[in-house]
Amino acid sequence: MLLKSPLSLGKMVLANLVCVFLLIEVIVSGFRIGVDGLRMDYYLMTCPFAEQIVQNTVNRALQSDPTLAAALVRMHFHDCFIEGCDGSILIDSTKDNTAEKDSPGNLSLKGYEIIDDAKEQIENDCPGVVSCADIVAMAARDAIFWTGGPVYDIPKGRKDGRRSKIEDTINLPFPTFNATELIRAFGQRGFTAQEMVALSGAHTLGVARCASFKSRLSGVDSTLDSDFAKTLSKTCSAGDSAEQPFDATRNTFDNFYFNTLVRKSGLLFSDQTLYTNPKTRAAVNGYAFNQAMFFFDFQQAMVKMGMLNVKEGDNGEVRENCRIIN
Ligand code: HEM
Ligand SMILES: *[C@@H]1O[C@H](CO)[C@@H](O)[C@H](O)[C@H]1NC(C)=O
Ligand SMILES: *[C@@H]1O[C@H](CO)[C@@H](O)[C@H](O)[C@H]1NC(C)=O
Repeated sequence: MLLKSPLSLGKMVLANLVCVFLLIEVIVSGFRIGVDGLRMDYYLMTCPFAEQIVQNTVNRALQSDPTLAAALVRMHFHDCFIEGCDGSILIDSTKDNTAEKDSPGNLSLKGYEIIDDAKEQIENDCPGVVSCADIVAMAARDAIFWTGGPVYDIPKGRKDGRRSKIEDTINLPFPTFNATELIRAFGQRGFTAQEMVALSGAHTLGVARCASFKSRLSGVDSTLDSDFAKTLSKTCSAGDSAEQPFDATRNTFDNFYFNTLVRKSGLLFSDQTLYTNPKTRAAVNGYAFNQAMFFFDFQQAMVKMGMLNVKEGDNGEVRENCRIIN
């Protein structure tokens, strides 16, 4: 037998493991086919190490900057809500086209380099196979796990879109929305009010800049705790780009966010309104009380969000470079 390098030996062992897992999956549940033909094992034959590469890349990046976890989760949300989960958020503007990411509502997204890094390694391994949209979805999932959130499997097979336009970002929900408007905005995309509340729980990670909440500080807002209002004013004294964490544990995925809402200390108007409005208050109370229930509902809603208007076959492509349409 030819001597194998330790690397290829490792790969062989892993490939065997993958086969065993495949067998187990077939026995236990059959091939689970998601809607629209997305599949849990989409890359099993064509790029078996894709998930591992993404996870290692995300873990490495978050080790040096844990605040990027929030960014990756938010990137997936913005990708899916505009034009479906098709990697459109990653496209750079050109001289003829101003892309989504350059909207004033690009809302301080960051972490694009993590996606580029994972994509480059995957292209070396299996060129032209794994879409940028799938990498974004996997990276968000891995960031949630890394910060202590639920672990879950996501179906893959999204194709990348060929459109990314600044004007489309008008379809993102605004932080000034009340619960009725949020229910409508998410309802239009097939989510229940409960699922919308669960998804908002992503605000257990990260920060908002003063620009996103300062309008709450002028005038009377009886839904805002007065001590918390003072904290926010102090933050905003440093200017529009000063950051305020959504909850006390900005890099940990937990249910503290919902507890802040119960204490009238939700950061955005669109956060606090979930507790103010009787239609969503029970869900907030439930998640504040029971983290396991939040985790369960959140992961289900994330999988659902990850399938919003996905493109398949000729409706999309596998981008060579996530920032440029092929
Ligand atoms: C319910 C409607 C939502 C509204 C109105 C909203 C709005 C916002 C705003 C205004 C910010 C702060 C941006 C800034 O000031 O820089 C933010 C941050 C964030 N959003 Fe949302 N969001 C919503 C739902 C979601 C969902 C569904 C997710 C993910 C599943 C999400 C994930 C995040 C994360 C993780 C951050 C922190 C980003 C960071 O620290 O880098 N949001 N959101
Ligand atoms: C977001 O948009 C602003 C212009 O509104 C731009 O200056 C900035 O570079 C963009 N940020 C990213 C990460 O693309
Ligand atoms: C929510 O906002 C809409 C649109 O601004 C407004 O018509 C409605 O009265 C608001 N609902 C509540 C409960 O404040």
